[in-house]
Amino acid sequence: MQNFVFRNPTEIVFGRGTIAEAGKRVPAQAPVLLLYGGGSIKRNGVYEQVKATLKNHRVVEFGGIEVNPLYETCLKAVDVVKTSQAGFILAAGGGSVLDAAKFIAAAARFAGPDSWEILRSHGVVIQSALPLGAVLTLPATGSESNGNAVISREATREKLALSSKHVFPVFSVLDPETTFSLPRKQVRNGIVDAFVHVMEQYMTYPAAAPLQDRFAESILQTLAEWGPTTLAEPNHYEARATFMWSATMALNTLIGCGVPQDWSTHMIGHELTAFYGLDHAETLAIVLPGLWKHQREPKKAKLEQYGQRVWNVSTADDAIARTEDFFHSLGMPTRFEAYHINPAEAAEKVRTRFAERKTVLGEHRDIGPDAVASILAAR
Ligand code: NZQ
Ligand code: ZN
Repeated sequence: MQNFVFRNPTEIVFGRGTIAEAGKRVPAQAPVLLLYGGGSIKRNGVYEQVKATLKNHRVVEFGGIEVNPLYETCLKAVDVVKTSQAGFILAAGGGSVLDAAKFIAAAARFAGPDSWEILRSHGVVIQSALPLGAVLTLPATGSESNGNAVISREATREKLALSSKHVFPVFSVLDPETTFSLPRKQVRNGIVDAFVHVMEQYMTYPAAAPLQDRFAESILQTLAEWGPTTLAEPNHYEARATFMWSATMALNTLIGCGVPQDWSTHMIGHELTAFYGLDHAETLAIVLPGLWKHQREPKKAKLEQYGQRVWNVSTADDAIARTEDFFHSLGMPTRFEAYHINPAEAAEKVRTRFAERKTVLGEHRDIGPDAVASILAAR
């Protein structure tokens, strides 16, 4: 097991009717910026509940955060924070709104001349941020309980991630009933995203971390067991609660303590969203099986362990096949063909970009631009 430091400062408030708890946790001295997306919270009752819990606060609203939130839009929100002198950001929505809140919180306190530096440095330059809280309505990203955010820049078609201890939410409210209104596609996306988050912290090589392995496998098994009901029965509270807690646990940094990690699938996937606009989870479902086939030998021991413990199969190839079957059972395609994208063209675009950036991925740092291109060309 590798050395590690574990600190997750986010207070989780979980369960039915818990949005009412949010207001008590938001300081009342300064205005609060209420941040939201394209309007789903106004159609499912979340907006009214948030306004009710903030009835004793001065509230400034900023709506219209996009899916794959744009840097350009976030900068407008930073101006609103500055002119209103907001002292807290409350994000209500999915990962996109939460991620935007984190970037805005950091950019509002950033002293440098160019806020893009926050993303170019992947968050290293962040020295402080406005405090923020969240009302999560879409289980998927784990953004409600981590210090990560992913922001896209329209002008340059870039999508970059930041990570900083300064942008963990102070609290996150997780009411599974808020997810009842989710479109089927977003539930499918969320299950796949959470599943792949576990994999990025698990599918490497044995590292004498049996507890972390069992944590990871238990989340995978829970998603596999409950995913179908979660998808089929939108109002099944226990299924939605299980899904929501699984997605949080998948990326709240616990299961990644002391183990090697391989975020290649996400790094490649972000490029596919940047170039083609695919949903985040759609990119992961294409890349993951291809990456595993390419890395079958270095990942063989863990692929076999995963196959045996999660799917009751004995070979690495069967483990890969069962994973693709699982994605398909959720209605998630695993090939470019489903989106009419030419694999060879996608491979070239990503190869060129990774070559420019000198990107090298993988737990053994053995996945360079050419390897990425051959992974994508085979999808
Ligand atoms: O914008 P609104 O109107 O709110 O609608 C959203 C959006 O259209 C809708 N939605 C959310 N909750 C709903 C709802 N519709 C009905 N009922 C509800 N309860 O769902 C759509 C998708 O929302 P979005 O927030 O974009 O989805 P998700 O949570 O999957 O977030 C995706 C973003 O998170 C990033 C991705 O790259 C992507 O930009 N990620 C963030 C991570 C993190 N911070 O740790 C890790 C992930 O790997 C991921 O990269
Ligand atoms: Zn993800």
